[in-house]
Parts: sequence; structure tokens; C-alpha cells
Amino acid sequence: MENKTKKNTFSSQFGFVMAAAGSAVGVGNLWRFPYLAAKDGGGLFLVVYLALVVTFGFTLLVSDIAIGRKTKKSAIYAYAEMNRKWRFLGVATFFVPVIIMTYYAVIGGWITKYFTVYLTGEANAAAEDGYFTSFISSPVSPVVFAMFFMGLTALIVYNGVEKGIEKVSKFIMPVLLIMVVGIAVFSLTLTHTDDSGITRNGLQGLQFYLTPNLEKMTVRRFLQILLDAMSQLFFSLSVSMGIMITYGTYVKPQVNLSKSVNQIEFFDTGVALLSGMMIIPAVYVFSGTEGMSAGPSLMFVSLPKIFHAMGKVGILVGVLFFLTAAFATLTSCISVLESIVANCMELFHASRRKVTLVLTVIYMAASAVITLGYSVFYLEVKLPNGTVGQLLDIMDYISNSVMMPFISLFSCILIGWIVGPKWISDEMESSGHTFKRKKLYNVMIKYIAPVLMLILALQSIGILDALLG
Ligand code: PHE
Repeated sequence: MENKTKKNTFSSQFGFVMAAAGSAVGVGNLWRFPYLAAKDGGGLFLVVYLALVVTFGFTLLVSDIAIGRKTKKSAIYAYAEMNRKWRFLGVATFFVPVIIMTYYAVIGGWITKYFTVYLTGEANAAAEDGYFTSFISSPVSPVVFAMFFMGLTALIVYNGVEKGIEKVSKFIMPVLLIMVVGIAVFSLTLTHTDDSGITRNGLQGLQFYLTPNLEKMTVRRFLQILLDAMSQLFFSLSVSMGIMITYGTYVKPQVNLSKSVNQIEFFDTGVALLSGMMIIPAVYVFSGTEGMSAGPSLMFVSLPKIFHAMGKVGILVGVLFFLTAAFATLTSCISVLESIVANCMELFHASRRKVTLVLTVIYMAASAVITLGYSVFYLEVKLPNGTVGQLLDIMDYISNSVMMPFISLFSCILIGWIVGPKWISDEMESSGHTFKRKKLYNVMIKYIAPVLMLILALQSIGILDALLG
């Protein structure tokens, strides 16, 4: 066992930070963050989000990474080692990526499809009404793309921590950052005059994004913004799903964890803010404040129309945008699979290669089923949060809305009250570096985070709304 874990390490702090940032930066940054910012009062959402990043996000990220490095085990055995009676929490945590993996490659496949569409000059077609729906509801093409994406992910994980994950992340993440900055700057230079003669420009869009909108502010609305920011935050940081625990196991003892956590948060938040700068001004210029749509339709329906309205240069922007999105999704998808692989290697005492191969077969099948949830297996299920979903939405709802808040809540209780925050802070300081926000961490993990998580958990299963009437 010892030997096995020794071989699996990130070669450097930089490699670890790029891999962890690769997991954190995903579709959540690119489509969910800008949408929430536009919906939740622009600058106000940004302020709330930033305040949460350095307190709440920091606490959860520190916990996960320190648990991983200290126990040198993935979620199931890590929780068991913290306290034998709490193994169930490790098992629950393990099931989050198990569920997410069924649909993440599906989304990766959609993005890859759009990338190829822009690359092969079919951009006009993608801007037409109904293009996205007809693509995802066809029975073959989206399955092929999902398989491709799953295969690519598996290949990287198969090559191991340093030669696969770290190597790919060290290349992809800096390139991704450059592309996001480039598109964001371009977005600010746009101007457009619509049919009614109104001209809007990118800087006005930026103003709309950054200015806090306090209109019609009520306590209830503020609570909603807070909850939106909080759920976005821990989805975005990939915490409470065992992924950062697994990545933590690969970090060498001499690495400064405090600094790494800061860098990961900085990278993730930076890309989220830049995504807002890239998308909100562009949407604003071409469709005004009403143009921001939610979820996948922002990326696959609204943006192609906007790229189309940009004329020829829109094709290039489309290529770069979907390449960025594909990169972001790939490194996240890798982390999901890696965390399942790592747990299974410990569970079954099997080699990385064998486990990866078996899981690839299973998840190719699962991805196909989820993809076909828009055609052959189409169904409409009313979810407790009021939306109607297909298979993919159901999986997403179970993992992100139901399981993650509860896992976070119980983890805070376990660390804050049973094993004690010192167990974590000792690990943070074990490399000889100081743990700068130790006091903040202690207060957060014991008191504030559990209360916030409880509220979020109640809201996500629809109980909070019922209580508030
Ligand atoms: N953190 C990713 C994002 O912001 C989402 C993600 C969730 C990645 C689960 C991996 C696992 O999009």
C-alpha cells in the first residue's frame, strides 16, 4: 500500500495547483456564474460571492485537501480513519462523483460537438432556432461525442497522476486562462445598434455586470442571493465530493497547503469573474439585459446567436470559446473519474489500469443512457425545486442539490465537533509553514459553516420555501 501511494504524487506545488484548479474551473464558471451574476443583481452577487470565497469556500477547500494529505486515503477510507463510525459519510461522498460521472462526459460531448461545428464552418447552422434541441435529441451523434469525451478522459486518467493528470493540467490551464482573458477583452470592445436604433457597447455591459443592483431588495431576495452564491461556490470549488480529498493524497509533505489553497481559489474565482466579463457584455450588447438565459441554453443557444451577430469574427470567437469550454470540462471530468478510480483502487486493491478500464466500460454505457434521456429514454420528472427535468437533470439534482449540502454539513460537524479543527490545522502546519487563517477556520468550521449548510440543505430540498411560505 505504502509503495502504491508513493508512486502517485504531483511532482510540484504548481502541478498540484494546476490540477486542482483544473477540477475547479468547469462549466460552473463558464455558464452558471455569469448567469447567476446577471440574475442576482450584478455587483451585489459579486461582493457576496467574494466574501464567501475567502471564508466559506476557503474552509471547505482546506478541509478536503488536508484530510486527503493527512490520511493518504480517498473519501471512503479517509472518513473511516477520522472516525470509524463516520465511514458512512465517506461512502456518501464517494457516490457524488459516481453520479456526476454519468452525465459530465455527456456535457463534454455537447461542447466538443459545438467546437467541431465552429471549426468546420457550420457556425450559421448552430445559430438557428432548434439546432441544439435537434442535436441532443438525435439518437446517434450526441452518443458518439459523449463516448469520445469519456474515452479521452479515461486515457488521461489511465496514464496516472503525474504523467496523465498533472501533465495535461499544466498545459491546459495556462492556455485556458489566456483564452478567457482574450475573449473578455474582445467582448468589451463590441458595439451594436439594434433594429430600434439603440446602440449598446461592451463597456456599458461591463457596468451592468459590476454595478450592484439593489432595486426591490428584500430580506428574502438577499437570502436567495446568498444561497445562490453559496451553492455555486462549493460546486465551483469541487468540494464535498471527495475530489479534493483524492487530489490532496497526491500532495507531497513539504508543499505549503495554505498557499496552494489561496492559489486554487484565486484561479477559480478569477476565471469565474473573467467568464462574466466575457459573456455578460456580449449578451448585453446584442440582446440587452433580457438576453441572459439559464444553464445549457446560455452556452448552446444564446451564445451561438451572439457569435452569429458578430459576423465573420464570431466564427473565430466561437472556436476559441468552445475550445476554452472543452478544456475546462475535460480537466473537471478527469478529476471526477480520478476520484472514483482512486477509491476503487483502495476498495478492490486493484491497479490503476485495471480499475480505469472497467470504469470506462461502465461509464461509456451510463453516458449513453443519460444522453438518450433526450430521445429514446425521454421523460419529464418534476423535481422538488420546482423544475422539470430529464435524466441528466435528475442526476445533477441528486448529486449537487441533495447530496452535497448534506455531506458538507456532516463533514463540518465531524471536523468541528468530533475530531476537532486542530486535526486539520496540524496538517496545514506540518510542512513548517504557518496556517494564516487558522482562527477564522476554527470559527467557520464549528459554527458558521454548519449553520449556512443547514439552511442551504433545507432550501435545496424545498423545505426552506415551505417554511417561509
Ligand atoms: N467545479 C466544476 C465547475 O465549476 C464542476 C465540477 C463538479 C467539477 C463536480 C468536477 C466535479 O464547473
